[in-house]
Amino acid sequence: MTQTDSAAHFAAAREVLPAGISGAARENAALGQAMLAASGDGPYIIAPDGRRYLDYFSGFGSVILGYDHAGVRAAIEQALDMGIIHGPETVYQERLARRLVGLVPSAEMVRFANSGSEATMAAIRLARAHTGRTKILKFEGHFHGIHEHVLYNTHPEPRSVTPGEMVATSADSAGIPPAFADAVLVAPWNDLAALSRAFERHGSDIAAVIMEPINYNAGALLADSDYLRAVREITRDHGSVLIFDEVLSGFRTGTDCAQGFYGVTPDVTLLGKAVANGVPLAVIAGRREVMSGLAPLGQSAHSGTYSGHIFGVLAALATLDALESPGVYDGETGLMSMSERFYSGLREIFEHRDIRCRVQGVGPRFALYFGLDPDVEPRAYQDIAGHDSDTLKRFARACYARGVYFHVYDVVVGHHGFGAAHDAEVIDETLDRVDAACVDLAAD
Ligand SMILES: Cc1ncc(COP(=O)(O)O)c(C=O)c1O
Repeated sequence: MTQTDSAAHFAAAREVLPAGISGAARENAALGQAMLAASGDGPYIIAPDGRRYLDYFSGFGSVILGYDHAGVRAAIEQALDMGIIHGPETVYQERLARRLVGLVPSAEMVRFANSGSEATMAAIRLARAHTGRTKILKFEGHFHGIHEHVLYNTHPEPRSVTPGEMVATSADSAGIPPAFADAVLVAPWNDLAALSRAFERHGSDIAAVIMEPINYNAGALLADSDYLRAVREITRDHGSVLIFDEVLSGFRTGTDCAQGFYGVTPDVTLLGKAVANGVPLAVIAGRREVMSGLAPLGQSAHSGTYSGHIFGVLAALATLDALESPGVYDGETGLMSMSERFYSGLREIFEHRDIRCRVQGVGPRFALYFGLDPDVEPRAYQDIAGHDSDTLKRFARACYARGVYFHVYDVVVGHHGFGAAHDAEVIDETLDRVDAACVDLAAD
């Protein structure tokens, strides 16, 4: 199938799938449609016409080991051999829970879910049940899934910022009853004065503070360590549940996740994506006292036909086996040094080709903030809200023509990334192609 055939495919698909796709975020705003793929292989996505694209999307950040990973394939085969059983419990859920308890600092008990959205929904209900309170506090530019309790201020327009002030809560979807917004406070990230004021006014009503400890959904924004420690103290002092949504940051910087990276331990952690290398699985993990609130031990409802499905559970065990192997994160060929190799290469290219772009990465996920000062680290969503998304689209299109895939979201800032299948040779090949794409861009 050729590229023209891909256009023909989407034309036909639009008749039976809204917008021709299976989820809004599949659309690549740089291409004006989704990418049509046939298969994946290590660091490559392969199109139906056989073209191989070096992949910097990694399945929304879920494929940390690369496509068609042998261990994950064997796990799926084992699940098939077991008859895809998922009503009764098997021994593997306990085995995986124990592994996670050993790796993730905040995990004393674990419950499995199927998606990040389901995990954030269940965790918020659990926090409300635990505290007997209603309000949750989230941060501008942080994304926690696609439901009524969290879908606010994930990608607002640029606004003028007054330090110390909270942000007006604004829903990101039509169809959300306004009453839900009454339960949501929105704070600017890394602004301790704003958070302290919110707790002064609403502290006794705040059931949970939920955050992306590394705000990858706005690219790759780090928390100040002092700020994060202060958030930990304030939530503890006020009896609010601190939830780290590590659906995207989990296993990115190490097997102890972002909480290990910062040395700050939340009450509840949510994992998804990379935990099972692209096989649907999410995790709610946390302090025993809080987790004991989950039914049937406690009163907070959570269950599902596919909860703890063995596809995800076995795939996660295989993924953790791989991630725990020596040298995956550290050492000369580990993810952290590959990240540095890639980002410094990109910086050199942009400087040499006179393209203004801030390259900001934490571990193997990163942002390309075109139009922003390359030497200034943005700290909060409003620092990057005015980035030049048109140039990002043109850049991604030029890279696509050179066989490098960057996914560009329509309205959200988005994020890029790679995984352990991208070795030095792959990274260097990518840099060559990106450089050629930048030349094309200038001639465009
Ligand atoms: C931080 C974070 N939380 C929650 C979600 C929702 O996860 P899912 O898409 O699996 O529902 C995402 C998805 O991108 C995410 O990045």
